Amino acid sequence: MSIQFEGKIVLVTGSGRGIGRAIALNLAQAGADVVVNFFRNRGPAEETAADILALGRRAEVVRADVGSIEGIEFLFAEVQRLFGGLDILVCNAASGYNRPVMEQRPKGWDWTMNINARALLFCAQKAVPLMELRGGGSIVSISSPGSSRVLPEYVVVGASKAALEAVTRYLAVELAPKNIVVNAVSPGVVETGALQHFEAMQDPGLMERIAARTPAGRMLTPEDVAQVVAFLCSPEASMIRGQIITVDGGYSLPFHEP
Ligand SMILES: NC(=O)c1ccc[n+]([C@@H]2O[C@H](COP(=O)([O-])OP(=O)(O)OC[C@H]3O[C@@H](n4cnc5c(N)ncnc54)[C@H](OP(=O)(O)O)[C@@H]3O)[C@@H](O)[C@H]2O)c1
Repeated sequence: MSIQFEGKIVLVTGSGRGIGRAIALNLAQAGADVVVNFFRNRGPAEETAADILALGRRAEVVRADVGSIEGIEFLFAEVQRLFGGLDILVCNAASGYNRPVMEQRPKGWDWTMNINARALLFCAQKAVPLMELRGGGSIVSISSPGSSRVLPEYVVVGASKAALEAVTRYLAVELAPKNIVVNAVSPGVVETGALQHFEAMQDPGLMERIAARTPAGRMLTPEDVAQVVAFLCSPEASMIRGQIITVDGGYSLPFHEP
């Protein structure tokens, strides 16, 4: 049975590129109208919006920095002005100051935590009244295995994703009486622009090795992640609350020899 979101209003943060773009397009294919949010790259956001329009859905592009409280306030004021409500919020946008532990700086910590973790809490605060106008809604945050595993140069992103997962659980409990379902998806490695920022990911044979070590037999795609996000927003998933759903083709299950 395909999941239907006819008439639903969706906001996906950071949806010009990568996984966020796939989530926005997938929900639009299922009938949703979408607010496409970006921060620094307008071109890809306009392309995502054009692809959504081509599907016969409505798309609005809003530039806002979810790492700042003013940015979040502006983003949700725009959602209210443009659509007058919200059914689905996907907190996907992320950034990071990727360095080993001893090279980290307080500025990089604040930057990363604000975009990746603080944004979920304060976007949710702003989303709630808009979802209440619609009788409820769904919130999905996008985490990463670095929340509980140690990845190269990933300390602040890992800490931010651990915080994001904790906030996800609190939101799931405290927003449940408002008929708002909250969960997270934690993808394995997906080949997006994000990987360019990691020294350790520049090894030319790495993607082939990851695919070979994935029990499902191939690399994870943005669309694989998008389909699980859509499921978590569907009525069929309404009894899944505050969970962090790993989507990695089984990559994290076997012990990998170094
Ligand atoms: N790729 C992976 O292997 C992987 C694995 C596990 C988890 N994840 C998670 O999946 C999510 C998407 O990752 P991705 O690989 O698709 O990343 P990406 O290709 O680097 O895209 C990041 C997106 O976030 C947006 N963004 C960054 N800072 C923002 C801000 N302050 N305000 C609003 N938007 C902002 C970017 O918009 P602009 O282009 O406009 O700056 C861009 O659309 C992230 O939460 C990431 O941690 C990714």
